[in-house]
Amino acid sequence: MPTDQQPDSWVLHTENTTYAVGLNAAGQLVTRYWGRRLDRVEDIPPAQDLGRWASFSDRGTLNQLEYPAYAGPNYVEPALKITQPDGVRDTVLKFESADCEEGLLEVVFRDVHYPLKVSINYWAHFGFDLIERWVEVRNEGDEPMVIERAYSAVWNVPRGPQYRLRHLTGKWLDEWQMQSERLTPGVKLLESRRLTTSHHHNPWWSLDVDADEEHGDVWFGTLLWSGNWATRAEVTGFYATRVATGINDWDFAYRLDSGRSFETAHAWGGYTSKGYTGASHCLHDHAGEYLMPDRDRRWDHPKPVLFNSWEVSTFDVDTESQTRYAEIAADLGVELFVMDDGWFKGRTIDKAGLGDWTPDPVKFPDGLSPLAERVKALGMTFGLWIEPEMVNPDSDLYRNHPDWIIHFPTRTPSEMRDQYILNLARLDVQDYLIAELDTLLKSADIRFIKWDMNRNVSEPGWPDAPGDPREIWVEYVKGLYRVLEQLGWRHPNIVWQSCSGGGGRADYGILKYAEQIWISDNTMPTRRLPMQVNYLHAFPASTMEAWVTDMGDPIVPLSFRLHVSMFGVFGIGADITKWGDAEKDMARTAIAQYKQIRHIVHNGRVYRLQTPEGYTALNFVDYDTQHLPSEAVIFAFRTHIPDPAVPLTVYPRGLEPDRLYTLETLELPHADTGGHGFDSDLRAALDLREGVRTGAGWMYGGIPLLLGNFDSRVLRLKAVEEGNSE
Ligand code: GLA
Repeated sequence: MPTDQQPDSWVLHTENTTYAVGLNAAGQLVTRYWGRRLDRVEDIPPAQDLGRWASFSDRGTLNQLEYPAYAGPNYVEPALKITQPDGVRDTVLKFESADCEEGLLEVVFRDVHYPLKVSINYWAHFGFDLIERWVEVRNEGDEPMVIERAYSAVWNVPRGPQYRLRHLTGKWLDEWQMQSERLTPGVKLLESRRLTTSHHHNPWWSLDVDADEEHGDVWFGTLLWSGNWATRAEVTGFYATRVATGINDWDFAYRLDSGRSFETAHAWGGYTSKGYTGASHCLHDHAGEYLMPDRDRRWDHPKPVLFNSWEVSTFDVDTESQTRYAEIAADLGVELFVMDDGWFKGRTIDKAGLGDWTPDPVKFPDGLSPLAERVKALGMTFGLWIEPEMVNPDSDLYRNHPDWIIHFPTRTPSEMRDQYILNLARLDVQDYLIAELDTLLKSADIRFIKWDMNRNVSEPGWPDAPGDPREIWVEYVKGLYRVLEQLGWRHPNIVWQSCSGGGGRADYGILKYAEQIWISDNTMPTRRLPMQVNYLHAFPASTMEAWVTDMGDPIVPLSFRLHVSMFGVFGIGADITKWGDAEKDMARTAIAQYKQIRHIVHNGRVYRLQTPEGYTALNFVDYDTQHLPSEAVIFAFRTHIPDPAVPLTVYPRGLEPDRLYTLETLELPHADTGGHGFDSDLRAALDLREGVRTGAGWMYGGIPLLLGNFDSRVLRLKAVEEGNSE
């Protein structure tokens, strides 16, 4: 009777999936199977060797290799490329050993000639249907080797079908655009060369043939890395589709000195038979359980409602003006008051100050404490914006350490937003930042940090680098992680937000250190709505800061703006000193309602709902101690549709079919919910919202809503039995 693990083949199971690899007759590590769970070992296909195709394609190209090195007649994208001290650039790996227990698999290879060890690692995250992969490359010889590419993984999906690739692209003010395209033979490259994750592409991807939100096979993945990365989705001439992903090899080299190891970024890959929603749930559930630095706190302490000063004050901040906002914010129910840019020495415009992280003596003659204490007295916590990786030429830090920036000595460094990037690959720069920021964080009762990065790299030189200067792409990111980790340890009560001019650094690497993301500087609610929904494919709502601001068309009512912000981490960035009683009343009510439902949004699961064009709807479901769906909240929006419009019927998902639920509309005072354009008789005829229905009743019968242009609704469902808690 075969067991799961043989000397040359290994099987990882998660709750609903199986991932199997093995050595084929040629000794190559190949993908045997990745998909729906197969419990019977005999059912898993063997490790294939397709041999050779004429004199043009060999087994390196034909077989579905798990981690191909650049060697021999192999013309698919390699995962590993190394140059040996004698100039040989061919890496021939031979299996040495494997260790597989408790969901962890390590398969070790060695080069047949050179003292090079390559460990390929897998970790099955059982309850989340995810496989985590990474590789360690070690030089066991005396002379340096040079790594030119070391990806995290190659994900092979079943051979044959023509897959659809979905991925997220954008630019500043325009992140989180969902792209969907059929792959054809060739390589589709998604990447960042910007030193950080980038607004332009995000490392999240998915492949499917004919899935939709609810149904179908989806393979998906992402990288846990906040620097340059590359994902190459390749269709070979032999109908094989593969996704090779890892730290970008563009302009990259890593000198592996004697005894030195290189660990790649970690990658996650998953399979679900439950459509795009199933894929999101695997990632979100896993993130919620394992990744958030506040994972112990989050259940007891919900993410606070925040106010942020940027869009109303820009650089014009001081204790008095900020106190005026703080007083109103506290009255509205805000729990965290965040002072954004402009508070530090010399910072009156964006040309000066970055690097000198002490309060401006004119704006804050007694430091930050008076404001922080004022905010505290109002019942809120106090937070602050910083951009520590940057320096303005007009700063004491730059005057004292011009050599600390990323630059080539013979080139004029480009200024973008009048700033340079400190070289966080340098240990002295890291240590300086840790000490400076530690002092700052001790100087007042600070509970939240918005960590920004407002430009991308140029002239990526590292003079006097101890290794190859191109290691900057890796060492910078590791340096950043070290600074964040040290500060996190020293200040465990601080909540961190990752921002890079909006969504330029959103990835599961940074989420280990920062639990919230500022997903875009674009806060126009109608533009933000699809961005937020798309963001939720890759990341959970508990990480997504969403502010109500004054940006965008004034025709969009405050009720709509409030509702868009309610399905993330709620914030206000609007000029609340200009709000009249009606606006304040509406916002106060929305914040109170949000506090009643935020546990569903943050701890529950998201379902993106099918709607006619012009409408957007989604619902979140939370569970009781028996893991049964006990509560849900539905968000529905109509942007602009010329009349006559089709009335919207919302079909929520994720409820327990036999369980009884009540429905309640969370009304906002002064909101115009007249459903203009619809006949009032129609309203009466369609108003089926009253009463108690089973989950099946609500999910399949649907909930009709008459929404006018820029109208929105939030509805709450609660199980009738015990187990409802708020
Ligand atoms: C970036 C951020 C904004 C704000 C400004 C301050 O653009 O994304 O939210 O903090 O910097 O300069």
